[in-house]
Amino acid sequence: MNTHSKQALVAFIAATAGLAFLLAADLPTYVGAGKCKDCHRTNSQGRQYPIWESSKHAQAFNNLRTEAAMTIATEAGVTGAPEQSPVCLKCHAPQAEKAPQLAAEGVTCEVCHGPGSNYKKLNIMMNHDESVKNGLIAFTSADDIKARCLNCHANAHNKTFDFAATWELVKHPKPGK
Ligand code: HEC
Ligand code: HEC
Ligand code: HEC
Ligand code: HEC
Repeated sequence: MNTHSKQALVAFIAATAGLAFLLAADLPTYVGAGKCKDCHRTNSQGRQYPIWESSKHAQAFNNLRTEAAMTIATEAGVTGAPEQSPVCLKCHAPQAEKAPQLAAEGVTCEVCHGPGSNYKKLNIMMNHDESVKNGLIAFTSADDIKARCLNCHANAHNKTFDFAATWELVKHPKPGK
């Protein structure tokens, strides 16, 4: 390799490393439902945290530790603990893959709304477009919402899924919306 191409290579590596660093710095990360709770627990905001906390979604990981889960796991050919099996975690605790420290939250806020590190600041949250730019997953229609549910609910354990009825059980609108 001549001096010129060596210099070019060094410059290329430096540029790529710099870019990778910038991208990594910008990449949103998962912060956990406790952070969302700070602002989303009051009646005036719509009690999103307490509604989620008392839903089955918040128990989805814990329920992998039950007798019933062992039986389902055995039938599915899963050997070992269901709460460690990617087969079960895929729907019951999707955080297990990207943010294992949050796996116990089960089907938590950021599973549906996206990683919150960049959008959770008040001035960003107050602005829909800025929130979306910073990683918030926005839903545009009832069909859009239903499609998200079906990611996990389509034929889960051979049960049918009634979107309209189940959405009533987990929805968490701001009052007046
Ligand atoms: C510092 C306070 C604060 C924190 C922390 C916070 N939010 Fe928010 N969030 C707000 C406010 C204020 C709004 C705007 C509410 C309104 O419409 O008046 C909002 C709006 C939203 C919306 C509707 C956004 C839209 O434009 O459609 C979602 C979804 C949401 N928050 C989810 C979350 C999640 C998930 C977390 C945790 C990762 C979180 N928020 C953390 C204050 C906060
Ligand atoms: C495709 C997504 C998906 C996969 C994969 C999955 N589950 Fe589920 N599981 C669900 C859904 C959705 C429900 C709730 C069904 C309902 O009641 O409508 C559920 C319910 C359960 C329940 C009942 C919880 C309760 O409320 O008592 C148990 C136990 C369970 N699953 C265990 C497992 C185990 C163990 C595995 C791995 C072998 C597994 N699941 C894999 C989606 C899934
Ligand atoms: C990441 C996967 C996932 C997504 C997305 C998801 N769910 Fe679930 N849901 C589950 C699992 C897993 C359970 C079972 C939790 C348990 O009991 O252990 C469940 C349970 C439920 C239950 C309780 C069922 C019962 O038998 O009482 C309702 C209601 C529900 N989901 C509604 C919804 C709706 C509506 C959507 C879309 C807005 C949705 N879910 C999106 C995984 C998911
Ligand atoms: C199973 C998926 C799911 C989970 C889990 C979930 N959300 Fe949502 N959330 C939605 C969907 C879908 C909408 C959009 C509803 C719409 O557009 O009508 C929504 C709407 C919202 C809104 C906007 C309400 C409004 O009317 O302006 C806020 C705020 C919010 N969620 C916060 C949270 C917080 C905080 C958590 C956790 C404590 C959470 N969500 C958990 C699916 C979910």
